[in-house]
Amino acid sequence: MAGLFEEATGQRLGEDRVWRIEMTLTPLCRSRNIDSLTSLASLLDQSGEDVLRGEVIDALLNNETSFFRDPSAFHHLTAMVLPQLRERRGQARKLRIWSAACSTGQEAYSLAMLFAEDRASWQGWTIDILGTDISRTAINRARSGLYSQFEVQRGLPIRRLVDWFDPVLDQGWRVRPDLASLVTFGRQNLLGPPPAGAQFDLILCRNALLYFSADRRNEVLDRLAAAIAPDGALVLGAGETPSNGDRFRADPDLLTVYRPGAAASRSN
Ligand SMILES: C[S@@+](CC[C@H](N)C(=O)[O-])C[C@H]1O[C@@H](n2cnc3c(N)ncnc32)[C@H](O)[C@@H]1O
Repeated sequence: MAGLFEEATGQRLGEDRVWRIEMTLTPLCRSRNIDSLTSLASLLDQSGEDVLRGEVIDALLNNETSFFRDPSAFHHLTAMVLPQLRERRGQARKLRIWSAACSTGQEAYSLAMLFAEDRASWQGWTIDILGTDISRTAINRARSGLYSQFEVQRGLPIRRLVDWFDPVLDQGWRVRPDLASLVTFGRQNLLGPPPAGAQFDLILCRNALLYFSADRRNEVLDRLAAAIAPDGALVLGAGETPSNGDRFRADPDLLTVYRPGAAASRSN
């Protein structure tokens, strides 16, 4: 099962994470009346089980996320990256932003709040935020814009909650249409071609590359490099780096922010 998962997503379930197989697939077996994980594995070997295969892959994905996760990254965006892009794109007044591997959408909506809360600066601009993920379940949830009380409590101060969400009886909170209009969602595999269209001014790809093998991570970074504007910015998760290669260089002032192109070589 770990092999099937890695082939489909690039994510490795190393020795330290095989516990996820039992934890996440036992409930799936129960709901499908499959008597054991061994029976599930032999079913997956048969052709024509694409739906089941999709469910297994979805169940094994780690969709952990929250609003404004790693607040320092959002601070860098508001303080430096977005003002810089506003200056650089002042003529076209258009920004295209990709929240890659966005899980259930909190990251994309957090980005949208940055623009919606600074209306004066972005008056007359077209802001397109695209959230993508390989997980069908996660993207469906992101599109619904509906979050539980527990989810909104993670990262959203009460002011933002009342400004941008409407309460839904017994269900939680739904993103308001004016915020939702800034964001679209779609399914995309980071190992496949990037979303069609113009290059992105800003890409966030956080906390997904961590579990890729070095080769697969490099493949994804190549694709991100092709999808980003030469003067754009890439934001990775804390603790992730674009490793070797000359696709991206670290921003000297902003932790987790990377710029397309090779680092300037140092002379001694
Ligand atoms: C831990 S979540 C991170 C979500 C968000 N970026 C954040 O930092 O809060 C990792 C996400 O990566 C997605 N993912 C894993 N492999 C992927 C792939 N090959 N293509 C696209 N998304 C992938 C998972 O479905 C999951 O939603």
